[in-house]
Amino acid sequence: MKFFVDTADVAAIAELNALGMVDGVTTNPSLILKSGRDILEVTKEICSIVAGPVSAEVVSLKADEMIAEGRKLADIAPNITVKVPLTWDGLKACKVLSDAGHMVNVTLCFSANQALIAAKAGATFISPFIGRLDDINMDGLDLIADIRTIYDNYNFKTQILAASIRTVNHVTECARIGADVMTAPPEVIRKLASHPLTDAGLAQFLKDWEKTGQKIL
Ligand code: E4P
Repeated sequence: MKFFVDTADVAAIAELNALGMVDGVTTNPSLILKSGRDILEVTKEICSIVAGPVSAEVVSLKADEMIAEGRKLADIAPNITVKVPLTWDGLKACKVLSDAGHMVNVTLCFSANQALIAAKAGATFISPFIGRLDDINMDGLDLIADIRTIYDNYNFKTQILAASIRTVNHVTECARIGADVMTAPPEVIRKLASHPLTDAGLAQFLKDWEKTGQKIL
């Protein structure tokens, strides 16, 4: 499973990228707001750090305007993935932009039928939002599993980009189901390394080591 980091925080991206944890980046208008940066500037900086796909989201509602915005975003760097919402106009923009050779991430997906139609419109990535479904008492992971089955049934090439990941268990389950990619905030990626037994074991080892009176360096 590829790891994308869901942030426009350049310092966090650079730190995780240096560890080999970043196969790509996803941003959205809320994350751009959180960064306090200009979208074109910050996206260009992210693309200079990360070699993989970097999603930058359009903000218009009409297909023609989305296409124009998508082209402008795609001019930033060759690894830009244009992110469009899962609306009828978004699908039209997806088809035009993907036919023109751009990578397209169709976002705000909440049903298997939406994922099916995005694949038919040529999406490179489909972004089903797990956490936001969990928030309304539905099971976001069931959606990932349904899309996996449907895409495999018909050999669709669209990659499942599991989004709105809130917990480390979401990551485990996405890997178990076979999502192609997961995108998570930096803090969730960092938490993947934590385990209380690791902490307890390390504390015991260091206590015993101190008793030996030895030094390695
Ligand atoms: C990624 O592409 C999405 O925009 C993001 O994962 C949404 O996450 P949230 O539901 O935690 O805001």
